[in-house]
Amino acid sequence: MTGPRFSRRLPWTTAQNRWSEAIAAHRASSRPLFDLTVSNPTRVGLDLFPGWSDLLAEAAAPDCEQDPLGLLSAREALAAFLSKPDDPVDTDDLVLTASTSEAYSYLFKLCADPGDAVLAALPSYPLLESLAALDNLRLDHFRLERGRRWQLNEPAVAAALRPETRALVLVHPANPTGSFLLQSELEAALSLCAERHLPLVSDEVFADYPLGNIEDRGRAAAAQPHTLAFSLGGLSKSAALPTWKLGWIRIGGPRDERRRARAALSLIADTYLSVATPVQRALPRILAAAPTVQATLRDRLERNLSLFRAALGTAPALRLLEPEGGWSAVVRVPRWADDEETALRLLVERDVLVQPGYFFDFEDEGHLVVSLLPPPEVFDQGIARLIGAFEESAIPPGTGA
Ligand SMILES: Cc1ncc(COP(=O)(O)O)c(C=O)c1O
Repeated sequence: MTGPRFSRRLPWTTAQNRWSEAIAAHRASSRPLFDLTVSNPTRVGLDLFPGWSDLLAEAAAPDCEQDPLGLLSAREALAAFLSKPDDPVDTDDLVLTASTSEAYSYLFKLCADPGDAVLAALPSYPLLESLAALDNLRLDHFRLERGRRWQLNEPAVAAALRPETRALVLVHPANPTGSFLLQSELEAALSLCAERHLPLVSDEVFADYPLGNIEDRGRAAAAQPHTLAFSLGGLSKSAALPTWKLGWIRIGGPRDERRRARAALSLIADTYLSVATPVQRALPRILAAAPTVQATLRDRLERNLSLFRAALGTAPALRLLEPEGGWSAVVRVPRWADDEETALRLLVERDVLVQPGYFFDFEDEGHLVVSLLPPPEVFDQGIARLIGAFEESAIPPGTGA
């Protein structure tokens, strides 16, 4: 190696792996591609809000109004947007960030020192690993248990806590499994945190997208006065604007702890001042339009989920693990090979792109993750091809599902 040495936070060499090479080769070929991995809502053929283009221009101005926590007008609009009749949100409890990912980074800086650990569930959102590593933290895990739904088992969480653990991270509803925390599970997690003086970080980016009615669905983690908790969200999901770069932290818990956290987060945010002023100025109008955007997206998600469910009804070898919310669904499939090999075969032989379960650390093989966002013409064909691949294979029905 020549030149300066880089830090050991991440393995900086990004060798192409089989997976990315196969996708690149497929895209370069003349074959069709039924992409069931899309996660960018602006790329799925929906006219989500025709007026977007004027919004930033109207909100732009060359002066430098700035507040490390976010402009008051933006936080007031956000407080109104997040408030529910039984859960009013206080403007003072909100901190704006450039994204939910940045919100994680602020909270890791707030709660932990290099070498400490944060604890999160498996299967889970893969970016957490890099987010923790970039803040010099170790990511520990406990497993969600799959019964009728994905369940949070309090003893499993407790057993995974170590003296170095500085925060419990929950994704509510989870990506990719789509499971919400029940209120009872959330309360169990909050009590564990309270006993050990740990904050709870709850990623609620998909909370606006429930799929069906869940009895006892957990509220926002910050919506309680007992334990320091942070609920995270952002425009990437709530307004389908991933490139406009605005996320938020809602601080919840006892008043003094909220005040201390807010002051410390203000110092962190003041160091970067990363949220652009135009998007903050535009926030009241963006949030006013967000319910319509969400309704359009929910129609797409529900439509695709119904189609998927119906198609799987005639495919005994495959089983849908019903999502409770979010933008994806997990399907159990017969184990041809490991999940990467299965996904590669689907791509090469059937022109269908799905995510293999190992990206998300499922406990065993035989899980594929399907985005519910694609346009119907892509989704329906992709699902038919996915099911056809397993139904027509020599594997006996039911194996591994
Ligand atoms: C569970 C979860 N949290 C956070 C994010 C990142 O959100 P943002 O674009 O606001 O950084 C994603 C992105 O897909 C996600 O799936």
